[in-house]
Formats: sequence, structure tokens, C-alpha cells
Amino acid sequence: MKRRIPILAFALALAAIVAASLPSSASAQLPEEFTNLQVLPEDIATPELIGYMRGFAMGLGVRCTHCHVGEEGRPFSEFDFASDEKEPKRKARFMLEMTMALNSDVLPGISEVATRTDPAVRVQCVTCHRGVSLPRQINEVVAMAAADGGGDAAVAKYRELREVYYGSGSYDFGEQPLIEIASGLGRGDPDAALAIFDLALEYYPESVQALVGTAQVYMARDDKDAARAALLKAQELAPDQPQIQRMLQQLDGGLK
Ligand code: HEC
Ligand code: HEC
Repeated sequence: MKRRIPILAFALALAAIVAASLPSSASAQLPEEFTNLQVLPEDIATPELIGYMRGFAMGLGVRCTHCHVGEEGRPFSEFDFASDEKEPKRKARFMLEMTMALNSDVLPGISEVATRTDPAVRVQCVTCHRGVSLPRQINEVVAMAAADGGGDAAVAKYRELREVYYGSGSYDFGEQPLIEIASGLGRGDPDAALAIFDLALEYYPESVQALVGTAQVYMARDDKDAARAALLKAQELAPDQPQIQRMLQQLDGGLK
């Protein structure tokens, strides 16, 4: 038997949701009636509800137990899905209302000023969350770690995120965020900035931006030899960049 659950149909326009044709084994374990739906319609069909719930879980990269009272690995029949005890469930209900309002009230307003994309792009949980429960950008997460525990903590946080999320699209592990993080740390915490520039060079050994950034930190510290070494490497990679030329001249001329 083929099971058809509208896993991520999750259109949030209730009318647009195609009800699944067959119940799944999961839905067989769910209560017959839902007693605490405050945003979704009380009489929603079980497969449709499961479609929403899977959308929540996948959008946030969590399991049902993140929001619901129940034990991982136990049958759903033992869960208390109606309970609002867990804070994430209460936040998720707010988020559901917000998301529905964006789709049904806010975004249609585009047509007053421009042409709406057709077919319309619908906001879903995953649009913001990208598979993590707290949708912070990587710059912010790493900067917070640096503020708490300095360069080592920032590097450790970055590596940990990379280990878990690389390839998932949850965070941008490209060169640019690393440069921005390090530049942001710049004068406030030069050691942390150097640690992040080093990390950038580990993953992007040809990063001229990381080399120039490194040189800038050393110049600010008046460590001319270290600055020169970084600039010469940068120059090898980007022989025509006037900024590197200028910085080297500054070093040799003793200008500050
Ligand atoms: C991110 C939080 C979140 C996750 C993850 C989540 N749910 Fe929910 N669930 C909710 C919210 C919020 C409601 C209530 C919606 C409303 O008030 O309209 C709800 C309602 C329910 C209900 C109806 C309970 C009742 O009687 O009122 C069931 C059943 C349910 N979820 C099952 C699941 C299952 C199964 C999973 C895992 C596949 C899951 N949920 C994952 C947030 C979540
Ligand atoms: C427009 C962007 C956006 C969309 C769409 C969105 N969220 Fe969120 N979500 C956020 C932001 C921002 C926060 C952080 C809120 C705060 O500061 O507490 C958040 C926080 C949460 C949290 C608490 C996370 C934590 O660890 O504290 C839950 C649970 C959640 N969202 C569920 C959902 C669900 C379920 C959906 C889809 C129905 C959804 N969100 C759609 C932006 C969004």
C-alpha cells in the first residue's frame, strides 16, 4: 500500500491543502479528536494535521518531542499532544499564526505596488528556520560565542556548527561570513579576529580578504613583520590589487 501524506505540501492556505488519501501508521496512533487546536481548524483531517506537523519538525530540524509531551521512541498513543506545557509549542502556535498572516494578509498587499510573483511564493517555517529551531545567522552565533569566550570559543562554535550542518543549507559556511565575523571582531578583540581569519584560511587557503584582514590586525598592533608576511602572500594571489600595494608601501614607509 502506498502512503500519501502531504509531507511538505504545508501550503498554509488551508483550502489549498490536498487531503491525503490514506491514513499512515502514525496517524492511526493519534487521538481521534484534537482538543486543543487554536489556530488550525478543529475538524482538520488527521493526515493534513500530520502534514503540518512534519512541516514544523522538518522546518526546524526537531522531533515531535521538541514541542509535545511524550517520550522519544514510545508510541504516539502515549503522548499528550494537546498539552501546552512545553514552551516551544506555545511559540510555534504564535509562529503559525504569524506565518498564516504573512501569507494571507501581508504579502497579497504587494499587488497594490507591484505584480505578485506567479505562482506566489508562500512563506513556510523553513523559509526562515532552514532546519534550525532558532533562526540566527552564523555571523551572530559566532560573534556571541566570541563575546562569551573569546577566539577559542568562537572557533569551536564555528567548527561545531560546520560538523553538524555542513551541506544542509541551515548556515552559510562560505568565505564571506567568516570575513565579516573576523572584521566585526576587528579592534574590539584582535586575537579573536586573527583566530577567525586563520579559520577562514584553513577552509579558503586562497582568501585574499582573509590575508589582508590579517595584515590589518597586525598593522594596528604595529607587528610589521607579521603584517608584511600576510600581505606578500596576498600579493602573490592577487598581484594587481592596489590596496595591497598601498598597504605594503605604508609598511615600508613607516607610515601609520
Ligand atoms: C515546533 C513545534 C511542533 C512540532 C515539532 C510538532 N508539533 Fe504538533 N503541534 C504544535 C502546535 C503549535 C499545535 C497546536 C496548533 C493549534 O493550536 O492550532 C500542535 C498540535 C498537534 C496535535 C493536536 C493536539 C490536540 O489535540 O489539540 C497533534 C496530534 C500533533 N500536534 C502531533 C504532532 C506530531 C505527530 C509531531 C511530529 C511529527 C508534531 N506534532 C510536531 C507544535 C508542534
Ligand atoms: C518570518 C520568519 C519566520 C517564520 C516564517 C517562522 N519563524 Fe519561528 N522564529 C522566527 C524568529 C525570528 C524566532 C526567534 C523568536 C524569538 O526571538 O524568541 C523564531 C522562533 C521560533 C521558535 C522558538 C525557538 C527557540 O529555540 O526559542 C519556534 C518553536 C518556532 N519559531 C517555530 C516556528 C514554526 C512552527 C513556524 C512555521 C509555522 C515558524 N516558526 C515560522 C522566525 C520565523
